Amino acid sequence: MSTESQIAFIGGGNMARSLVGGLIADGYPAQRITVSEPEPERREQLRSRFGVAVTADNGEALEGADAVVLAVKPQTVRTVAEEIAPALGQAGAVAISIAAGVRLADLQRWLGPQAAVVRAMPNTPSLIQSGATALIANAQVSAAQHSLAESLLRAVGQTQWLTDEAQMDAVTAISGSGPAYFFLLMEALEEAGVELGLDRETARLLTLETATGAARMALESEDTPARLRERVTSPGGTTERALGVLDDADLRGAIQRAAEAAAHRAHELGNLLGEQ
Ligand SMILES: NC(=O)c1ccc[n+]([C@@H]2O[C@H](COP(=O)([O-])OP(=O)(O)OC[C@H]3O[C@@H](n4cnc5c(N)ncnc54)[C@H](OP(=O)(O)O)[C@@H]3O)[C@@H](O)[C@H]2O)c1
Repeated sequence: MSTESQIAFIGGGNMARSLVGGLIADGYPAQRITVSEPEPERREQLRSRFGVAVTADNGEALEGADAVVLAVKPQTVRTVAEEIAPALGQAGAVAISIAAGVRLADLQRWLGPQAAVVRAMPNTPSLIQSGATALIANAQVSAAQHSLAESLLRAVGQTQWLTDEAQMDAVTAISGSGPAYFFLLMEALEEAGVELGLDRETARLLTLETATGAARMALESEDTPARLRERVTSPGGTTERALGVLDDADLRGAIQRAAEAAAHRAHELGNLLGEQ
């Protein structure tokens, strides 16, 4: 990413801290980043840890900005968007919202018809720079702004552009809520290990290392997860016996229904946030 772009963050909480940390770790110049945050202690932490400029004034953060990251809670986005709309128009900056559930049309309505807007949906592992973020842009976003938004979110993990915003509900169901599904699997496997006679520490370590190893194999291999699973399933062996039990319990069906329920709820929440 061009290190010439001036980036403003509105809200200096968990996600802003991760994004700023990721940018600085990538060599982005701290003097090109300003964070606006109402809480004095959080401001001071950001300034001393990363060397970025901090302010309590959202308008001040926007001065000269090329990109403005809306990093406040979803229910605060409207207030902030309406407050910064005039300054955003003057700066000609792209607004990048990372607020879960807040749709492009609503952002556009609050920021003004000319505003270039990107909606990004990062997930919790972004907090440790291992995130998966889906992005969608409105028609006003230029090619340069596209790549600026993408580079920004790359600071906390992988990025994927969408062409249809309706897909954001599916993204929420898969990568947004997804970490919790894997945590549940880890909990259950650890518990099974304890039931089978391992001490908890050993059961947890084996579970977590197995989860990490399996994810890394799936990412690094040319084979699909299905093929990898087949390769570790010898006929008549232990894995085959275990997978048979999971099939009988309709694990795949349960996961499908869970994802559908999450996507449905994401849609409902998007409606509520737009109506606020
Ligand atoms: N955390 C995640 O894993 C994650 C994942 C995906 C998406 N997101 C999205 O990222 C956004 C931020 O989440 P977060 O976890 O970073 O929340 P957070 O830690 O609560 O950060 C939000 C910050 O914005 C500040 N703020 C509130 N009103 C403000 C205003 N009017 N102007 C400027 N700053 C203001 C808050 O200060 P006060 O606390 O004093 O109000 C707080 O420091 C959310 O919309 C969330 O949906 C988060």
